[in-house]
Amino acid sequence: MEAKLKELQQRAILDIDSAGFTDDLEKVRIKYLGKKGELTEVLRGMGALSAEERPLVGKIANEVREEIESHLDKAKFLIKGKEMNKRLETESIDVTMPGAEITLGKRHPLTQGMDELKDIFISMGFQVAEGPEVETVHYNFDALNAAPNHPSRDMSDTFYINDDVILRTQTSPVQVRVMEKTKPPIRIISPGRCFRNDTPDATHSPMFHQLEGLVVGKGITLADLKGTLEVFVKKFLGEHTQIKFRPHFFPFTEPSAEVDATCFKCGGSGCGFCKKSGWIELLGAGMVHPNVLRNCGIDPEVYSGFAFGMGVDRLVMLKYGIDDIRLLYDNDMRFLNQF
Ligand code: FA5
Repeated sequence: MEAKLKELQQRAILDIDSAGFTDDLEKVRIKYLGKKGELTEVLRGMGALSAEERPLVGKIANEVREEIESHLDKAKFLIKGKEMNKRLETESIDVTMPGAEITLGKRHPLTQGMDELKDIFISMGFQVAEGPEVETVHYNFDALNAAPNHPSRDMSDTFYINDDVILRTQTSPVQVRVMEKTKPPIRIISPGRCFRNDTPDATHSPMFHQLEGLVVGKGITLADLKGTLEVFVKKFLGEHTQIKFRPHFFPFTEPSAEVDATCFKCGGSGCGFCKKSGWIELLGAGMVHPNVLRNCGIDPEVYSGFAFGMGVDRLVMLKYGIDDIRLLYDNDMRFLNQF
């Protein structure tokens, strides 16, 4: 048995020495040490040996296996080195070949606009609040003081999921959600998607974006609203931009206004962009209605507040001179690459 094992070791070493590639070495390993390898077969036959012979033969078999394994390792190291040298000699890199082009993506103009708006308000001390896009009729209309017959509640304006659940038509419900949970002073903005049953055209999309603002505290006045919007508009549209308030109606603010800015293309003298008026409509705003404060458990005798809501898509269109809102949703790279 001992002679057989020694003979097996010699053959294995000869086979290893004559292997030229790592693949050959693997074949040798399987031939001798694999599950059905020659050494394994010998070890299997040990059952037939006497109790005295068995440990002796077992010891030799182990030595033979260790010897073959260490020989394999050494050969592998040498062969790998040779293979690597050969590759280095034969393979060369042509550094003059054109490289694979890496196209860098960039943020969508809407995201860029939204980020800029957020940065401006955050720099003024506002915090960002979020609310659900699938909203209840209660938060979108009732808690915002909208009369039961308010036209915006109509099926032709609003996407209803059932009688009580809708896709929010504005970011204003976030005002209520924040006021219910937070004690004044409150200073938040809430950017996000809104949905209206509007037929798409150059200025309307059934899905669009708004940015809501809300400030509630003691002694907050219309002057604070005006000052805040003035700072915002100058930062977003340019230092020379002026704003004006036009009386308007929103159920959740009193008094309410629509706010226009001097056309940033012509500076207010009138041009094709502002339809010769010199002004561009920017947003809706007003002082938070006492009923809304009350609905949220805030005493309107102690606290007052202002709110505003702007259409982000329209602001981005104004800022970048985009004349059709649908371009923002077409995903045409020729358009998007310009920003
Ligand atoms: C509102 O939605 C009020 N919630 C704004 C507000 C907030 C007033 C807080 C007072 C206090 P309005 O319905 O006007 O207001 O919409 C605001 C803006 O959303 C519009 O000026 C417009 O820029 C944008 N908008 C409305 N519908 C669409 C649409 N289908 N596609 C694109 N933008 C739209």
